[in-house]
Amino acid sequence: MRKVILTGDRPTGRLHVGHYVGSLRQRVELQNSGVYDDIFIMIADAQALTDNAENPEKVRQNIVEVALDYLACGIDSQKSKILIQSQITELFELTAYYMNLVTVARLQRNPTVKSEIQMREFEASIPVGFFAYPISQAADITAFKATVVPVGEDQQPMLEQTREIVRKFNSVYGETLIEPDILLPDNKACLRLPGTDGMAKMSKSLNNCIYLSDTADEVRQKVMGMYTDPNHIKVSDPGKVEGNPVFVYLDAFYKEGQFERYLPEYQNLDELKAHYRRGGLGDVKVKKFLNSVLQEELEPIRNRRKEYEKDIPYIYEVLKKGTEQAREVASQTLADVKRAMKIDYFEDIELINEQAQKYKVD
Ligand code: TRP
Repeated sequence: MRKVILTGDRPTGRLHVGHYVGSLRQRVELQNSGVYDDIFIMIADAQALTDNAENPEKVRQNIVEVALDYLACGIDSQKSKILIQSQITELFELTAYYMNLVTVARLQRNPTVKSEIQMREFEASIPVGFFAYPISQAADITAFKATVVPVGEDQQPMLEQTREIVRKFNSVYGETLIEPDILLPDNKACLRLPGTDGMAKMSKSLNNCIYLSDTADEVRQKVMGMYTDPNHIKVSDPGKVEGNPVFVYLDAFYKEGQFERYLPEYQNLDELKAHYRRGGLGDVKVKKFLNSVLQEELEPIRNRRKEYEKDIPYIYEVLKKGTEQAREVASQTLADVKRAMKIDYFEDIELINEQAQKYKVD
């Protein structure tokens, strides 16, 4: 079976280091592994509009930002197709048919949608499109016959929903769609990177993000201002490592050799953590180390972004080409779906003959 990746992001802002360790970094590795026959990376503007209907300019502006972040991280347009969701109308046809296979009760149980509804204080005013976006996401995934979906942990319920839709579709209409697998990062710290303020998640509205496009100075300032263990007041106080965002970031970003380069008194993260727990290790020292670790990872990304920013029309060309190529694949899947669902009237010569037979007078 062909190995196909599909993944994507909503263009509602620039991408941050949470996106990076949660999925982007892994996408680049998968892309370069040479194992996959096809890779699709979707800028999910239509999904972004499900809760930004009144804010189309925001979505429009952020498409190129997300594309720049992708390319800056090492997504290579020769190896991966970057596409814009709204331009592939086949996805919306698929969504409409899948809607018949999902109950309202099932959508109401989706934990990610539940928490998003709470966060947005939608309650009784949930847009139908937003409520149903897991179905549209199933269309995104199945349209490209994706076998693997590398995403952050919060997308797990979408994958479950997709797999259910695939099973239901195939059992009603015959084997047509492919059941995808989710691929999460194996490093636990990467699953959900906390905000710089210690909140569970990075989010633009909380102003607790480190963006991939932040300058070296911005990154340093954000790191030096990070929340740590509030009970670790004096250097000599014993400190808590678990849930301490500075250490979570180190777990997510630290690479071998970095102690030698930046903090040679320690051999490894375990030694650093042990010292912090014991007391006698100040936050500033740990933060300075984290800053060096982060800068090492972010500097090449920032530099590549600067290069791509010089030729914005090229970015739109990449998007257009990727979208066109992706559309061909989606259109093939839609044809398969319509055949399976017996709504391919004009392509089905047997149907015409059969109907003619029915009315034949001998
Ligand atoms: N829901 C994803 C997010 O919020 C974006 C997305 C849309 C997506 N369609 C997708 C992710 C298909 C993976 C596969 O970031």
